[in-house]
Amino acid sequence: MTYVLSIGGSLIVPPTGIDTVFLKSLRKFVLARYDKGDRLIIVTGGGSVARQYVKASAAVEKVPEDDQDWLGIHATRLNAHLVRTILRDVAHPEIVTNPDKIMKVKSRVLVAGGYRPGWSTDYVAVLLAQKYKAKIVINLSNIDYVYTADPRVFPQAKIIKDISWKDFREIVGDEWRPGLNAPFDPIASKLAQKLILQVAVLNGNKMNNVHKFLDKQKYQGTLIHS
Ligand code: UTP
Repeated sequence: MTYVLSIGGSLIVPPTGIDTVFLKSLRKFVLARYDKGDRLIIVTGGGSVARQYVKASAAVEKVPEDDQDWLGIHATRLNAHLVRTILRDVAHPEIVTNPDKIMKVKSRVLVAGGYRPGWSTDYVAVLLAQKYKAKIVINLSNIDYVYTADPRVFPQAKIIKDISWKDFREIVGDEWRPGLNAPFDPIASKLAQKLILQVAVLNGNKMNNVHKFLDKQKYQGTLIHS
């Protein structure tokens, strides 16, 4: 089975610093899936590293959006290097910096970072699914489910377990901006819908639950599909 595992940057680097407990559970998960014969393409988000660098540049000088994005992209790549390094015994030795170029990889684990300004790593994940012919993208974040609205603002928001791309896109809209707090980037959603992908939004702090999803057992999370 081939799938893309897109890791929200906040899981790798929350505001308190690099989360080595998460990285240990990620390594354990990847090794277990590798042993089962899976082929994984891992995409890493920027998390606090991205936000801190963008904030620092903005505190000193007015920085165009593209340049802010580049700082974000480098942050995602630094996190990709970190994840590749902790998986050095199974992962391809080079990280993907250009998802348009298909790499000849012998290893079944490939790690990627961001690519172009104006994008998110969600979009990179969908693009990689297209290039490497994966039908599933697992989007790891720190929420258990997608809600009908932001539950921190709207306490009456309801859990979504299963939703069509059409209905999901009505919730997230059509626009993306850096740091947008949508469960899956609207632009990436548009392409995912076109490619008929399944995107599972799962909590990365519960990797056993991710095994359950992949092993077709009862799991906690939101599945977005055609
Ligand atoms: P992320 O995809 O990590 O976005 O990229 P995020 O919204 O901060 O999500 P989390 O918190 O990591 O889950 C970080 C920033 O890097 C830039 C964007 O500015 C984005 O906000 N970026 C990333 C790009 O411009 N292009 C890319 O291909 C990837």
